[in-house]
Amino acid sequence: MFQSSSMLATEPSDYVAPLFHGPPQAIEALQAGLLARPAHIEPKYLYDALGSSLFSAITQLPEYYPTRCEAEILRDHAADIAQHVGKVKALIDLGAGDCIKAEKLFPSLRPEMYIPIDISVEYLHSAVQRLKNTYRDLNIAPIGDDFHHDLRLPDTIPPSGRLFFYPGSSIGNLDPDHALALLTRIRTYCDEGGLLIGVDRVKSRDILEPAYDDALHLTAAFNLNLLRHVNQRLGSDFDVQQWQHVAHYDEAHARIQMHLQAQTDVDIRWPHGQRAFCKGERIHTENSYKYTPEGFRDLLTRAGFSYVEHWSDACGWFSVFSARA
Ligand code: TRP
Repeated sequence: MFQSSSMLATEPSDYVAPLFHGPPQAIEALQAGLLARPAHIEPKYLYDALGSSLFSAITQLPEYYPTRCEAEILRDHAADIAQHVGKVKALIDLGAGDCIKAEKLFPSLRPEMYIPIDISVEYLHSAVQRLKNTYRDLNIAPIGDDFHHDLRLPDTIPPSGRLFFYPGSSIGNLDPDHALALLTRIRTYCDEGGLLIGVDRVKSRDILEPAYDDALHLTAAFNLNLLRHVNQRLGSDFDVQQWQHVAHYDEAHARIQMHLQAQTDVDIRWPHGQRAFCKGERIHTENSYKYTPEGFRDLLTRAGFSYVEHWSDACGWFSVFSARA
């Protein structure tokens, strides 16, 4: 069930605020996406508890280089990064997941407060329990929300010394207009702070496509699991067996496109609707845009950031940017 919204830093700090996008609005959006031609389902349905665990497994695959490259950059340039971001009072982790990436920054950035935000509430809750046992002096205030639609922050977070941490090239999952809008929104929250963000780079299809279609089929399972999650939310009757994961690099738009493709003609029914899909018809689930360093620097500048610094891994496959107002 979708539950009631919001910002709960005033609650006891092991409490994770639940998520709200409906049910009526969420159900309507789901139906509209399924009935559209071509059909689409919002990527947030990738991240139920199983989806989050599958994604965590994906990050350990040899083909999925972004997590490894980003970790290399954050490790090898920790001192330079800490110097550029300055004093951190509150570390605000956008899409925190298992919180492990942010945790690795604690020694160099030494935040007083840690605010992990993630749509996958149960997953976030267990990660926070673990952190609280390890970092007893750190003020941890988790928020269960989808900040892509509406990033709001509780007043309890001090206005100065805010560092937004947005790793994993999740910014690439937004189209460039929405990416600019989100960066602009983040910029309004960090007059005296900044943004530390990981961005995947434009590169050869031979490296990109296997990262989104791995030999163990974990990415396929991750994408297909979205159909099971949708069945739970909508009451639809998708049979995962009848669908196939497809990942394709669209060079003209510099983006990986993820789809689910019907392997046979199928009729999908749910309480107030239905949709027939022909064999080969696709449902779009996610884009993952890739940037050049110049292109992303430009986006940060247009969002209103003035001081932008950038670090790469040894292969030049991934970038971490620090941007300050
Ligand atoms: N932020 C991740 C990325 O774009 C999300 C992701 C990785 C993903 N693999 C995926 C999304 C497969 C959908 C399907 O790299």
